[in-house]
Amino acid sequence: MQHPQVMKKVQEELAQVVGMDSYAVVKETFRLHPAVPLLLPRRASESSNIGGYNIPKDTTIMLNVRAIHRDPKLWDNPLEFRPERFLDDGIASKFDYSSNNFQYLPFGSGRRMCAGIALAERMLMFVLASLLHSFEWELPTGTKLNLSEKFGIVIKKKEPLVAIPTPRLSNSGLYH
Ligand code: HEM
Repeated sequence: MQHPQVMKKVQEELAQVVGMDSYAVVKETFRLHPAVPLLLPRRASESSNIGGYNIPKDTTIMLNVRAIHRDPKLWDNPLEFRPERFLDDGIASKFDYSSNNFQYLPFGSGRRMCAGIALAERMLMFVLASLLHSFEWELPTGTKLNLSEKFGIVIKKKEPLVAIPTPRLSNSGLYH
């Protein structure tokens, strides 16, 4: 704050490199692999009819977000990992984590939506960017990435990830 010109320069550099709305890779990963695929169970406080389905009072409702995120009526080539879909003109702001758009709900929706979005979003971006900036990543020779999932309230990989990092920064002191 004593050097506003320096601060401005850093901000400009960040805006240029990181951009102001470039969360596409994380968003696309959440689309294909939402961590909490059925959200947390809800109970209907009164009887209602939603989309032609009668929901009697006290019914337990699980919302299949994983299926919504892979619905071909909602997404082009839904099984394809294509982060650019979140960068298309006008699309980026349509899909934030605020759950105003029921097509994309990685953190749930409504009054019981995730309470930790702000922390989760920042930590994920920071950790992912640090790992990618500091290392090249590859799979052990001859192996393929198995993306099969183990079902649960929080979904996990069926097989643990094994990846080989190789430092890519020239100053090895930065890894200590
Ligand atoms: C990648 C990280 C995370 C994901 C994908 C995630 C996702 C979710 C989802 C889908 C729900 C259920 C929302 C619903 O049913 O509508 C939830 C609930 C919740 N999350 Fe997260 N979460 C993450 C990280 C965090 C963190 C870091 C915190 C706290 C620091 C947190 C705190 C909570 C709490 C307290 C609830 C329950 C809210 C309630 O029932 O009122 N979450 N989360």
